[in-house]
Amino acid sequence: MTTLINGNFKSKDILSLDQFSPKDIEKVLKLSRKMKVIATKARPSKILEGNIVALIFYEPSSRTFGSFSASVKQLGGQTVEIINPKEFSSVNKGESFEDTIRVFESYCDAIVLRHPQIGTAKAASEAAFFVPIINAGDGAGDHPTQTLQDLLTIYEKFGKLDNLTGVMAGDVLNSRTIHSLLQGLSIFKNNTIYLLSSNKLRLAKNDLAKYKKTDIKIIEITKPDDIPSNANFWYWNRVQKERFASTEEYEKAKKIFTITPEFLKKYGNKNMILMDPLPRIGTIDPQIDSDPRAVYLRSQIRNGMYIRMALISLILGKDKKIK
Ligand code: NCD
Repeated sequence: MTTLINGNFKSKDILSLDQFSPKDIEKVLKLSRKMKVIATKARPSKILEGNIVALIFYEPSSRTFGSFSASVKQLGGQTVEIINPKEFSSVNKGESFEDTIRVFESYCDAIVLRHPQIGTAKAASEAAFFVPIINAGDGAGDHPTQTLQDLLTIYEKFGKLDNLTGVMAGDVLNSRTIHSLLQGLSIFKNNTIYLLSSNKLRLAKNDLAKYKKTDIKIIEITKPDDIPSNANFWYWNRVQKERFASTEEYEKAKKIFTITPEFLKKYGNKNMILMDPLPRIGTIDPQIDSDPRAVYLRSQIRNGMYIRMALISLILGKDKKIK
């Protein structure tokens, strides 16, 4: 059982959204708004002065890595960055995962970890003696910081995280971004999510059963005609090529519905937002980018830095320094 946040983030591992209550999420979002102000200043603040955060990424990443790195620097802290430890650390000589975590925790105040296997962030939290672990994506499992950024993006537009209707599409089975966002929205009242995917890429049965016991209403659909006309947001996700056993399996599954101007006109509405955690591979036609509803290359990206600034300050117990 992971430790619940319960209003107190200090020194806690952040492994999954199931540690959060609505109040905990609201606390991060509220602090993120202050971070937005700090980030627009030309000089870094001194909130994390003297702190070092290690970023250990076993899987490729642009946004998560970049925004974690930038968020620590925005707050005057520093990073130790290990990309691809299999090649560039003693993991290459055969060092165990646990030893690698214990070595790097000696150099830092928190570790941000991305790994291709489900459960590795939890394993790291059990291996670490001293510092908290932040899950930056573990295989098809969880991606809690992406969800905080997505929730902030939704909140900014609608001023609430309850009574919303959303469509999540693409690789529902393997996208950790979808899994964590479902978890995040399930703790707020009366949200309805349509999951649009082929039969092959449907949500796992045990996840569906888990959500039956929560307040979220999940409706599985396989064709765009079943997209509700009143959706507040669309959340499109690429097919997660790296999660398939073979290229052939991926080729068989990779066809998803792309948002084109025609598709948007037919199934969308005026007040919605269009989200994608990116990278977009077959998800959204670039012709959509200039549409004011498209937030994926705008606020959704920037919010990733603000929420990571907020979360790290909370975990390192520096939030009181923020005015
Ligand atoms: C996502 C991820 O890595 O899970 N990317 C990200 O962190 N923004 C989504 C993806 O790779 O499809």
